[in-house]
Amino acid sequence: MSAPEESLVPAAGFHWLTPLYDPLVALTCRDTAVKKRLVDAAGLAPGQRVLDLGCGTGNLALGVKQACPSADVVGFDADPRMLGRAAAKARRSGLGVRFDQGFARSLPYADGSFERVVSSLFFHHLAPAAKAAAMGEAFRVLAPGGEIHVADWGRPGGPIMRILFLGIRFLDGFPNTAAHAAGLLPGLVRAAGFDGVRVLRRFGTVFGTLEVISGAKPVEASA
Ligand SMILES: C[S@@+](CC[C@H](N)C(=O)[O-])C[C@H]1O[C@@H](n2cnc3c(N)ncnc32)[C@H](O)[C@@H]1O
Repeated sequence: MSAPEESLVPAAGFHWLTPLYDPLVALTCRDTAVKKRLVDAAGLAPGQRVLDLGCGTGNLALGVKQACPSADVVGFDADPRMLGRAAAKARRSGLGVRFDQGFARSLPYADGSFERVVSSLFFHHLAPAAKAAAMGEAFRVLAPGGEIHVADWGRPGGPIMRILFLGIRFLDGFPNTAAHAAGLLPGLVRAAGFDGVRVLRRFGTVFGTLEVISGAKPVEASA
């Protein structure tokens, strides 16, 4: 399932920081508020199939399941260390979320498998070509009329945010984060074929500006 040629930038820049990932993100990235905004934006309905792309330790996938217990929620990530943490949390909380491993440029799901794709802090880990490929895969696995809701680094809201964002750019790669620094992420969502793409909210954090972006797969698109 996984594509060995695709490189993986670990969640916190280095695998040895993985055990600290959750507290670091909670302290620095306004994680609870950002993920709540994403879940609200998703406007979940009973029975919907939801994919959390680049789910990491599973907080967003579990938040979706908590908000809509009858949803069929799948978390997807390339890193087995992160998925192990996610699965352990799901077991502890008794929330029935499935976690799959693989690379986002080739998702192991049929066309039109989901009504929602949600994703947080994932796309900036990808090189430009992989970013476009992953966005295309999100489009493919969504059913016509399905929606994507993404939270990720956006154009820094001023010079201080631009300087703060250098920390993330250093950790996760300057080429991977260039489109984010230039405010091009909404355009990448549009380029994959999504309609009605808009930035719903911007959050200032100690590492720069996070954007919540939503779009929809046109109803007339083929599944
Ligand atoms: C910063 S973490 C975000 C995790 C989680 N979504 C969150 O909001 O806390 C980025 C995640 O993307 C995953 N990742 C990076 N490249 C990937 C790829 N090509 N395909 C799938 N997952 C990938 C990493 O393993 C990591 O768990």
